[in-house]
Amino acid sequence: MNKFPQAFLWGAATAAHQVEGQNIYNDWWQAEQEHLLKEASNSACKHYELYPEDFTIARQLNHNCHRFSIEWSRIEPQEGNFQASEIEHYRKVVADLRSKGLEPVVTLHHFTNPVWFSRKGGWTKFKQQKYFLRFVDRMVRELAGQVKFWITINEPLVYSSHSYFLGVWPPKEHSLFKTIKVTLNLAGTHIKAYRIIHGIYRQKNLTKPMVGIAANLQAFEICQPTLKNKLAACLRDKLYNFYFIEKILHRKTLDYIGVNYYSRNLVDVNNWGIRGLLSQTCQFNHHPLPKNSLGWDIYPEGLFKLLMALKKYKLPVLITENGICTEDDNLRWDYIYRHLLQLHRAIAGGVEVLGYIYWSLIDNFEWDKGFSPRFGLVHIDYQNQKRSVKQSAMQLAEVIKKGEI
Ligand code: BGC
Repeated sequence: MNKFPQAFLWGAATAAHQVEGQNIYNDWWQAEQEHLLKEASNSACKHYELYPEDFTIARQLNHNCHRFSIEWSRIEPQEGNFQASEIEHYRKVVADLRSKGLEPVVTLHHFTNPVWFSRKGGWTKFKQQKYFLRFVDRMVRELAGQVKFWITINEPLVYSSHSYFLGVWPPKEHSLFKTIKVTLNLAGTHIKAYRIIHGIYRQKNLTKPMVGIAANLQAFEICQPTLKNKLAACLRDKLYNFYFIEKILHRKTLDYIGVNYYSRNLVDVNNWGIRGLLSQTCQFNHHPLPKNSLGWDIYPEGLFKLLMALKKYKLPVLITENGICTEDDNLRWDYIYRHLLQLHRAIAGGVEVLGYIYWSLIDNFEWDKGFSPRFGLVHIDYQNQKRSVKQSAMQLAEVIKKGEI
């Protein structure tokens, strides 16, 4: 049997806009009202009201941690206008988690921005960092005593590429220049946020927090062993997987590496153009693998390989997301089980892993894809907001109980 370490964190994640509902002051909500997206989030899972029920389920599933995000646009719906009642809401969320024995893992930026911030140019302007940092300062002062794990920014490169390069997320732009600028801006912001958070804990004489980012890591595998493919895989690995991590690590502003891992990218380049090198993938289903309902390859070995590659940074790793959208719950369990085996293999190979957080606790609003992809351990009936625990969630609960797989 494969034992997981003592004090291992086990849990699931959510993000405010995907589950809370009625986040009327952010840029996503605005784009949804303008019909720029497939579906509107509307009431989502009503998690803003129903969080105590959801956390009770997490507790019953033997979880001992939970990752969620604070919605900046609720805290500061207009510039400088901080809402005491919304701050109080998140204090209650954290208190409820703690009372149920769930360690909070708190994300400060998960893709959404207040409308007023976007109108001023959002993350394309370096001078706008100050607004986010003021929000960070405020929230961390409020929650410092109750929170140990912070994630400043979720998947910075996914955010910059989807919003400014691929143009599929608000503000739906197609500019390489802005994509680079936003990425650099987010790196600079993380570095400052890290220092602010540590500063507050020092001032308050609290035990040092654990501050990191959640990085989206993909397994770049080559289709045919051509020079172009090898070069492209190497380039993508450096750029998409490790560039951001190294940039902030270099400034000593990372206490652990948050890893979001889902899938494989099968590199197949047929010309030397930059787009080809950076994004072309095999279109012929060579080396086929089982897929999730969005067509992403299921490739658990990729998690092992990436974790081994992270070893050189000599930092603990927290799996901040790993999950599958599917209507077939047996496939979900198979996905979780096989990823846990690879996770254990990496632990046995000397990687320090703090915990495993599944994406997601409940089915939710999957951004530009709407509500149809179902990632949850818990099924949501969007007609009546009824929660039903899936079989896979119970299978995971058994693993957690035993602490081994
Ligand atoms: C994001 C989540 C998203 C999940 C599944 C991650 O990129 O952090 O918000 O729902 O992947 O696509």
